[in-house]
Amino acid sequence: MSRHNFAIPVVFTHRIVFTRNAFAPENPHLADILHEGGGRRACVFIEQAVATAWPGLIDAVPAYFAGLAVDCCGSTVLPGGEACKADDALVRQVWETLDQARIDRHSYVLAIGGGAFLDAVGFAAATAHRGVRLLRFPTTTLSQDDGGVGVKCAINGYGKKNWIGSFAVPFAVINDFEFLRSQDPADCRAGLIEAVKVALVKDPEFFTWIETHLPALAALDPAHLEICVERSALLHVGHIASGGDAFECGSSRPLDFGHWAAHKLESLTAYQLPHAPAVSVGLALDTLYSVQAGSLAAAAGARILRVLDALQLTTYHPALDWRDESGRRRIFAGLDEFREHLGGQLTVLLLQDLGVGVNVHHLDELLLDQCIDELRRRSGSRS
Ligand SMILES: NC(=O)c1ccc[n+]([C@@H]2O[C@H](COP(=O)([O-])OP(=O)(O)OC[C@H]3O[C@@H](n4cnc5c(N)ncnc54)[C@H](O)[C@@H]3O)[C@@H](O)[C@H]2O)c1
Ligand SMILES: [Zn+2]
Repeated sequence: MSRHNFAIPVVFTHRIVFTRNAFAPENPHLADILHEGGGRRACVFIEQAVATAWPGLIDAVPAYFAGLAVDCCGSTVLPGGEACKADDALVRQVWETLDQARIDRHSYVLAIGGGAFLDAVGFAAATAHRGVRLLRFPTTTLSQDDGGVGVKCAINGYGKKNWIGSFAVPFAVINDFEFLRSQDPADCRAGLIEAVKVALVKDPEFFTWIETHLPALAALDPAHLEICVERSALLHVGHIASGGDAFECGSSRPLDFGHWAAHKLESLTAYQLPHAPAVSVGLALDTLYSVQAGSLAAAAGARILRVLDALQLTTYHPALDWRDESGRRRIFAGLDEFREHLGGQLTVLLLQDLGVGVNVHHLDELLLDQCIDELRRRSGSRS
């Protein structure tokens, strides 16, 4: 009998580009990346809402490939938004298209859309042939400042967010700021929550920068929006690349600050509450809890809530008050699910200071009750 442990080191290059008009013939980034990979074919998937907002895109994408050594097998327009993660219908459509286009492991899948669309197309690309090279083009604030530059993909399943998914480092991510202009302004602002989140757990100076530029950010001034998106994206990628746990094998999840409640709010509301506002509610809750638990100074907590208010972000949702037959708030099942997801021991990040987190392994439901009451009161007094 014998036992052998082998280390299998694998190094990925995570290419992140910030640009404008990525498919303009004179923009070199995509061509350079395609050349670097050496693949021969590409399949393009465009989210319906993006194709509608940018009608020239369907022709511009294949036109960009003219003269390159990569064949474009055409653009497929598919519906996006959270609904495309509800089941495997979109994933199967992508698989079928890839099969018909004879996409091989060296070929490329281009996915152009919001975070939900990228998650679903990304999962299809990660599982076709055990992984086809994915080029992501995030088109929302949230997907550019967080999800799109990450290394995960998933669809929802069994009543839970992101239950069916995979870790797969994209071949490249091209953040084209132009896409941000066609978003609904409230959605565009809502996506800033992930920038606030990463500032709070990683970079106090960035939080101060956000505080200093609140009016411009709330007005979605392009220059400020783009600085904020880029800084947030780089902080997220920096953590993934250097944090020592890119594929989340451990239990510490600083980038998931506020997310235990957010993910549960999304599933409780049957995904009627989108990810971005769910995160701002979850972040407000865990901020108040950090203060109530004696971890964070009240003045720091007040500064965070002031930022959320100034950016017009949601900090309360009635689903926080929904209760099960035993009278327990249903949101608390999110803690049970997160504990289970982590393998038995709950680990939630609270704040100790602006830019400094601390992991805790227990949240007091009575204290959470008080925090939710406070969030409801605040939202009532502001409306
Ligand atoms: N993989 C990850 O690491 C990761 C991280 C964070 C979030 N996510 C996931 O991302 C999703 C949320 O992403 P999101 O906030 O981008 O939401 P979304 O993808 O649902 O897009 C929001 C809305 O904007 C529309 N849209 C997209 N781009 C547009 C554009 N340029 N112009 C006009 N409309 C546009 C969409 O059709 C949708 O109606 C969630 O499913 C979340 O779980 C994944
Ligand atoms: Zn998130």
